[in-house]
Amino acid sequence: MKRKQGLTGFLHFLGAVAAAVLLGSCSPGTAKQAKNTGFKPGELWLDTDSVHINAHGGGILFFNNTYYWFGEFKTAGVAGNTAQFGVSCYSSTDLYNWQNEGIALEVSDQPGSDIEKGCVIERPKVIYNQQTGKFVLWFHLELKGQGYAAARTAVAVADRVTGPYTFVKSLRPNQGQWPLGYPDELKTKKYADKLEWWTPEWYQAIDEGLFLQRDLEGGQMSRDMQLFVDDDCKAYHIHSSEDNLTLHISELTDDYQGFTGKYSRIFPAGHNEAPALFKHNGTYYLMASGCTGWEPNAARLFRASSIWGPWEALGNPCVGADAGLTFHSQSTYIVPVQGKKDAFIYMGDRWTPKNPIDGRYIWLPIQFENDLPVIRWHDAWDLSVFID
Ligand code: DGJ
Repeated sequence: MKRKQGLTGFLHFLGAVAAAVLLGSCSPGTAKQAKNTGFKPGELWLDTDSVHINAHGGGILFFNNTYYWFGEFKTAGVAGNTAQFGVSCYSSTDLYNWQNEGIALEVSDQPGSDIEKGCVIERPKVIYNQQTGKFVLWFHLELKGQGYAAARTAVAVADRVTGPYTFVKSLRPNQGQWPLGYPDELKTKKYADKLEWWTPEWYQAIDEGLFLQRDLEGGQMSRDMQLFVDDDCKAYHIHSSEDNLTLHISELTDDYQGFTGKYSRIFPAGHNEAPALFKHNGTYYLMASGCTGWEPNAARLFRASSIWGPWEALGNPCVGADAGLTFHSQSTYIVPVQGKKDAFIYMGDRWTPKNPIDGRYIWLPIQFENDLPVIRWHDAWDLSVFID
């Protein structure tokens, strides 16, 4: 704990210096930040210490009347996309003003550790397990020095929401398991060794499970990810799998720390990343992006009446200027606003891979028009757009 406070203090200082650089100021953020009264998407978003919030690819947990924002703690320069510190945590009671709670999960100094400093930690999400009383953090993990080849997911747990989180394990999900509804006759089907991507034969092979078969023994790939806890407390891990071609929804065990082996595929070869799932009036909505690295592309929205599908493609929920690039952002989470009716916030990242610490947050209201979620750009907005 002591170590965490020390590290947190150091990170505050680092952040203050970075903020001073970003803001073109010469004194590291000593003044207290004036209270925010709304959102200004794409602008620097200062925490209560006047430092730009550092929680990218994030997600929100609402617990004990407080929102907790967990995210990737990025650093300056091109190495800043690798994990030098770990997963950050901020807290807020109004969604506008965020207090830095420090590093919730620290990377390890141990060479060979799965979470060795310099690995890639992306899209961390935390859920609370009512049965065990534990906070469970899952994140996309790439092992140090291996680029994006490992395609693993990893779990850590804590007794307190802000941590410290203890690393449990990393894995590829659903080892040895076929997805729901997968036909027996495909389990042994053989495909040509080399199929040219995006040809009709290749589409058919992907749809039929070419990569599912390849990864059956070692477990399915898991990159961009999201967690969702349903009304019955069952939790799901939604992840880009099969070389980012197909999303998988996988059921978690009752303690939320493992996979039951029950999973389904969404839109094989649909090439979807950045999943963000929410539920409104009994309907599941899943927002995603295409796969263009750190560059933005058009969002996609899917809808289903059961989490296991079938899922219906609804197109891009964004409308207006720049909607085709999701307002220069990529989805990471949809925040249900407490105490408001039909109130959800689109939470996206505007990545800046050459200087990742400067990445910006695009938070926009989701509004229901003709019973469909729609996202419009706002230079500035606040929660009064939602009905109480
Ligand atoms: C897009 C993903 O959504 C991000 O989380 C990150 O993995 C980048 N690709 C890396 O290029």
